[in-house]
Amino acid sequence: MAKPCNLLYVIVLVFNLFFLLRIQPSSAAAAKTNYNVLSFGAKGNGVTDSTQAFSKAWAAACASTEPTTIYVPKGRYLLGSLAFTGGCKSSDITIQIDGTLVAPADYRVLGKADNWLSFDQVSGVSFIGGALDARGSALWVCKAAGTNDCPNGATTLSITNSNNIRINGLLSLNSQLYHIVINRCENVLVEDIKVIASGNSPNTDGIHVQQSMNVKIIKSSIKTGDDCVSIGPATNNLWIESVTCGPGHGISIGSLGKEMEEEGVQNVTVTKTVFIGTQNGVRIKSWARPSNGFVQGVQFIDIIMHNVQNPIIIDQNYCPHNLNCPNQVSGVKIKDVLYKNIRGTSATPIAIKLDCSTKYPCKGIKLQSVNLTYLKQVAQSSCANVIGKAFGLVKPDNCL
Ligand SMILES: *[C@@H]1O[C@H](CO)[C@@H](O)[C@H](O)[C@H]1NC(C)=O
Ligand SMILES: *[C@@H]1O[C@H](CO)[C@@H](O)[C@H](O)[C@H]1NC(C)=O
Repeated sequence: MAKPCNLLYVIVLVFNLFFLLRIQPSSAAAAKTNYNVLSFGAKGNGVTDSTQAFSKAWAAACASTEPTTIYVPKGRYLLGSLAFTGGCKSSDITIQIDGTLVAPADYRVLGKADNWLSFDQVSGVSFIGGALDARGSALWVCKAAGTNDCPNGATTLSITNSNNIRINGLLSLNSQLYHIVINRCENVLVEDIKVIASGNSPNTDGIHVQQSMNVKIIKSSIKTGDDCVSIGPATNNLWIESVTCGPGHGISIGSLGKEMEEEGVQNVTVTKTVFIGTQNGVRIKSWARPSNGFVQGVQFIDIIMHNVQNPIIIDQNYCPHNLNCPNQVSGVKIKDVLYKNIRGTSATPIAIKLDCSTKYPCKGIKLQSVNLTYLKQVAQSSCANVIGKAFGLVKPDNCL
């Protein structure tokens, strides 16, 4: 009879299908529904406004009860400010972008919005590929001219109140303000991204993380005009690995202490990272004013500096323009910071500057295997109110 044979065939088929789905790494393959933005009216010609089309594609994906992909084919898609809001039925949405999303040519269109593309209260969203071209350079020129009629500018990609987010293979180009902001999120993986903006573009931080837990930034390159990564209050368990930074202002924890009541930053690792010609390398800074903030459990390990102005710096006397803070003391408590295996060149004579609060000295500061030179000579260090220890070879070593 044919029946047992058919049954066997079906079993083999199901097995094959099972393995096929498991082996395919891209969640696009597993997704049951696929929404192409073109079928919602998007045009990849660079001039037709596709904001509505993208908004509709998102609404469809969001309402899906299955894993879903929004697909953006090659082409340039003109998008205005667009909020992708949550409350989705689907908790597995892949946004696969083979094209470039471009902002309006006139910077004033986005300039007053907080964000160009914002995702709020979403869960399980993955960005794969794509370029975001915010065309911010005209706004930078406006700001540099010093007239007061320039808008603040928009963050390129803002992700807030969201969980299980993955950003993979994205390019962010010439943001008006911050490139990527991760705020009040949990479990975020940023991998293989590129950030590019001019070294003198104002406030164009590469990735800003705050009030977030379990964020990983790996294998990425950030060239911009402000911090490559800036880390704000209430950040926990942040891992940064294999990042190349520069031009830019380095990787910075702070400025903490802007508010009196503030949560701290805890458990941050920066490792296998290279800084090229940056204004700072690894920096912790706090305002010179009262605060409940803290920074603890930070490790900077296996780091190379090429011609960096302040390779290792703690600055607790941050008081820009001497406004609202002169003659005050930082309340931010800094504890347990490890600097290990850091080598390369400083662009200034002082390669290690640890300038801590007179009221709350930095505690548990460890320097281990550090070798920083300035003009082929041993550089200098400068420390105030620091309690800590040096291990192994530490050059310069006239501090701890
Ligand atoms: C610190 O953060 C890392 C991830 O960056 C995590 O694996 C580790 O468990 C955290 N440690 C503590 C004590 O929470
Ligand atoms: C420190 O680095 C300099 C420049 O790379 C090198 O010449 C020197 O040998 C290093 N010192 C030690 C003790 O490793």
